Amino acid sequence: MQDRTHLVDDITGHRRMRRNRKADWTRRLVQENRLTVDDLIWPIFIVPGSGIVDPIAAMPGVNRMSIDKAVEAAREAAGLGIPALATFPNIEMELRDETGSNSLEANNLINQATAAIKKAVPNIGVITDVALDPFTSHGHDGILRGGEIVNDETVDQVARAAVMQADAGADIIAPSEMMDGRIGAIRLALDAAGHQNVGIMSYATKFASAFYGPYREAISTGGLLKGDKKTYYIDPANGTEAIRDAALDVEEGADMLMVKPGLPYLDICWRMKEAFGLPTFAYQVSGEYTQIKAAAMNGWIDGERAMLETLLSFKRAGCDGILTYFAIEVAKILAKR
Ligand code: PBG
Repeated sequence: MQDRTHLVDDITGHRRMRRNRKADWTRRLVQENRLTVDDLIWPIFIVPGSGIVDPIAAMPGVNRMSIDKAVEAAREAAGLGIPALATFPNIEMELRDETGSNSLEANNLINQATAAIKKAVPNIGVITDVALDPFTSHGHDGILRGGEIVNDETVDQVARAAVMQADAGADIIAPSEMMDGRIGAIRLALDAAGHQNVGIMSYATKFASAFYGPYREAISTGGLLKGDKKTYYIDPANGTEAIRDAALDVEEGADMLMVKPGLPYLDICWRMKEAFGLPTFAYQVSGEYTQIKAAAMNGWIDGERAMLETLLSFKRAGCDGILTYFAIEVAKILAKR
């Protein structure tokens, strides 16, 4: 009578996937994707004042920092080898208005932060967003007129804001407001101002997502937002439309592309990388971070393993890097390996 092993071999023809999984050394040898510190971009939140490190309730472990503290954080990040920061301002409510006019103040909070970070830590990249939501009294990413987020006027304004951000020292402009034609307009404006070396990382496919909730608390736009952003962000149901949208950004001169949120859109990461071959990044957004943190804090999952698994998944999906609030935490873990 045949034993069970022979029955299995008859079926598999002696092919056994488990041979390569049998020991730590074989697993290391055949590992296809690796996460390194070079893959990380750290998003941080800036507030006015000094000496401030203000915890964000909906994002345990993440703080809003005044510029002096952000400079210290940038120094720590650079010391760990993190290539770049992405900065977001939480400005005073009195400064927010219908058109987001503070975005056009050369010396506004975000530009001051860029200048201070680049002066103290010149070797870390600074990536700035040009969407208007931190500056508007209604929390939308563009100018609101007659119940509509007006496209062309917003593009005009974000292009001018981009030049000011570059003047302040921003290395990469990352427009997240999803207006049509913004990449081309920003490229022209940057070049006209002599900023040929400032890159553009397009938030090429930004979906109308529930996962941005904690971010809106972080920059205090949640309570302000009237309606939703479905007239300018992409419908989560649409993958092909997302690729067509990204194609326009590539044509208009984007240097790098981003997919946002991350984990629910790994298919988009893969399709973007396949379609264009540009450096492609995923934004593991606030709600993705919070899901892992909250479950871990309750003892329901192993937070560290879940964090590393999600970040590695972005690499497997073709991403060159990840914007993640875990950046410092994961950089410390990677340094110990
Ligand atoms: C808006 C913007 C959003 C995020 C960054 N910039 C989305 C939004 O508020 O609609 C989300 C980032 C995150 O959730 O971590 N321009």
